[in-house]
Amino acid sequence: MILVTGATGNVGRQVVHQLVEAGHPVRAMTRDPSRAALPEAVEVVKGDHETIEQCLDGVESVFLIWPFHTADLAPAVVGAIRRHARRVVLLSSGAVRDQPDSSVGLSHGELEQRVEQSGLAWTMLWPSTFAANAFWWRDQIRAGDVVRGAFGAVPMAMLHERDIAAVAVRALTTDGHDGARYALTGPQVLTQVEQVRILGDALGRPLRWQELSREEERRRLLADDSFPDSFVDLLLDGYAKMLDGPPPALTNTVEEVTGRPARSFAEWAKDHVSDF
Ligand SMILES: NC(=O)c1ccc[n+]([C@@H]2O[C@H](COP(=O)([O-])OP(=O)(O)OC[C@H]3O[C@@H](n4cnc5c(N)ncnc54)[C@H](OP(=O)(O)O)[C@@H]3O)[C@@H](O)[C@H]2O)c1
Repeated sequence: MILVTGATGNVGRQVVHQLVEAGHPVRAMTRDPSRAALPEAVEVVKGDHETIEQCLDGVESVFLIWPFHTADLAPAVVGAIRRHARRVVLLSSGAVRDQPDSSVGLSHGELEQRVEQSGLAWTMLWPSTFAANAFWWRDQIRAGDVVRGAFGAVPMAMLHERDIAAVAVRALTTDGHDGARYALTGPQVLTQVEQVRILGDALGRPLRWQELSREEERRRLLADDSFPDSFVDLLLDGYAKMLDGPPPALTNTVEEVTGRPARSFAEWAKDHVSDF
């Protein structure tokens, strides 16, 4: 049995679908099973990181995501997994290497240490920027053809959640991935301005970027109910650092692990037209 945490989210939902397609028994953890909308073959269980132990009976491997900006719960969560399972695949972050002093880098780094010291077999995934972050523009795109934001020139190696999930599924179900840290990127570096244009191509509309100052963007995000206030400054600090630093280095890890090249942002946009 494989336990998937974050099973209703960007990556976890894909992990669930790909495991089910490959015929593996899957248990999905969610805080609200009535809204999970997962395949019938999946055993959907109510839980969160604080109550994870009650979801772990008979589980051999865990896909672990970390929806927090601290590692406070790490000892309890890793300890619970250790008491039941043999293997964990952790959706960590490239920030552990690239921005180790940021709160994302620090919390994921501390969690990784706990996992490493636990005695579990482990694989760490270090994804670059998710293509799915473009969902943050969804309301603006539904309302018109202009996407407003700051740091439009930040270069990012946008990564499709299907590719992250495909690597996770290999690590969960095949040998040879224990002790690996996989730096995953998409196939191209794109600025936010370019992403908006590509999204417009997929939607058949001439979308364009309008640059805001950091302060204007900060106010806009704080007023956006769908965006967590606690993440606003972390995001903007991260973008400022990315703008100052070298562009992200691309890797071939998705293809090396899955046998299939990483999907482009244009493919992601095509896959998600109906979501916009
Ligand atoms: N976005 C990026 O560019 C990026 C880049 C590198 C790494 N990452 C890392 O990727 C992870 C996020 O992955 P994702 O986008 O797949 O996740 P997600 O879609 O944001 O969330 C996954 C699921 O976690 C559950 N969840 C959310 N907040 C929670 C909370 N406070 N307590 C308990 N459960 C909660 C929700 O499920 P239920 O409501 O069903 O319980 C949600 O569907 C983070 O650790 C992030 O640091 C992100």
